[in-house]
Amino acid sequence: MDTYKNKTAFITGAASGIGLALTKALTAQGANVMMADINGKALTAAAKTVKTGRGKGKVETIICDVIKPLDVKTAAKATQNAFGNVHMVFNNAGVGLAGKPGNIPLKDWRWITDINLMGVVYGVEMFVPMMTAHGEPSHIINTASMAGHMTMGGMAPYHATKFAVVGYSESLAQELAATNIGVSVLCPTWVKSNIYNGAAGRPTAQEKSAPKSEPDEAAAALYNMTKGLVDNGMTAEKYAALVLKSVLAGRFYVFNDPEARAAINMRRASILKDYDACLADLNEM
Ligand SMILES: NC(=O)c1ccc[n+]([C@@H]2O[C@H](COP(=O)([O-])OP(=O)(O)OC[C@H]3O[C@@H](n4cnc5c(N)ncnc54)[C@H](O)[C@@H]3O)[C@@H](O)[C@H]2O)c1
Repeated sequence: MDTYKNKTAFITGAASGIGLALTKALTAQGANVMMADINGKALTAAAKTVKTGRGKGKVETIICDVIKPLDVKTAAKATQNAFGNVHMVFNNAGVGLAGKPGNIPLKDWRWITDINLMGVVYGVEMFVPMMTAHGEPSHIINTASMAGHMTMGGMAPYHATKFAVVGYSESLAQELAATNIGVSVLCPTWVKSNIYNGAAGRPTAQEKSAPKSEPDEAAAALYNMTKGLVDNGMTAEKYAALVLKSVLAGRFYVFNDPEARAAINMRRASILKDYDACLADLNEM
C-alpha cells in the first residue's frame, strides 16, 4: 500500500486510546473507517470527535464484541456494504489482566485469551478471504505489545496473549508473503489510553459476589504502577502517526520504546545461554 487516500479500514477497540487515534489519523489522510467496539456508548461519543468532510475520510460505527466470531463476520460485511473493498484491518481491541498463579480465575484467563488472541484470529479469518477476493493491496495490523517480547511477574495472562499475537503475526506474515496482503504487529510500550480499566470487564468482576477491585494486593499494586506509566506515556496520536508511517514503509514490528532494546537483548542472551548449555551437555552425552 502506498497511500491511505480512498482506502477503507476496519478498526476494533476504536472507541478509545490507540484505536481512536488510528481512526483520526486515517480519516485525516482520506481513508474511510469502520469503527468497531464492544462499548456502544463510548463508540458513539468517540465517533463524534473524529473530523470528517472535505478531503477527509468518513466514519461509520458498529458494536462488535471480538470474542464473538459472528459479530466480527457481521462487522466485516457491514464495512464492505458501507465503504466497498476493505484494505486495512486493525485487530486492536485488547484488555489487561494481572494476578498471581493460583489466584486468577480460569474464566478470566479464558476471557483475556478470547479477546487478545482469538479476537485477532477472527479478524484475520474474516477479512483475509475478502482481501484475497478483491485483490487490491491490503494490510493486516495486529496489536500485540512490548509485553509480547519481554515479561514481568504478575502479568502472565497479558504476556501470554501478547506473545501469542506476536508469534501468530510472524507466521501470518510468512503465510501471506507471496500475496499483496502485508502484515504488521504493533508492539507499543506505555501509550496514554484507558487500558488499565479493561480488567473491570472480566467475568468475575461482573459477578455480584465478586469484589470489583483487582483480585489481589500484588495485582492492585501492579495496576497502580501501570496506570501511572500509561498516564505518563506517549500520546496515542503520536503512536498512531508512527503506525501509519510504518505500514506505508512495509515495516513488520512497530516499537516506540527507546529502553526496550536492552530488554530484548537480555531475553535473547538468556535464551542463548540455556541453548548453548543444553547443546554442550548433548555433546557430552
Ligand atoms: N496503552 C498502552 O500502553 C498499550 C501498550 C501495549 C499494548 N497496548 C494494546 O493496545 C490495544 C488498544 O488498547 P488501548 O491502550 O488503546 O486501551 P483502551 O482501553 O483505551 O482501548 C481498548 C478498546 O477496546 C475495547 N474493547 C475491549 N474489549 C473488547 C471486545 N471484546 N470487543 C471489542 N472491543 C473491545 C474497549 O471498549 C476500548 O474502547 C490493546 O490491544 C492493548 O493491549 C496498549
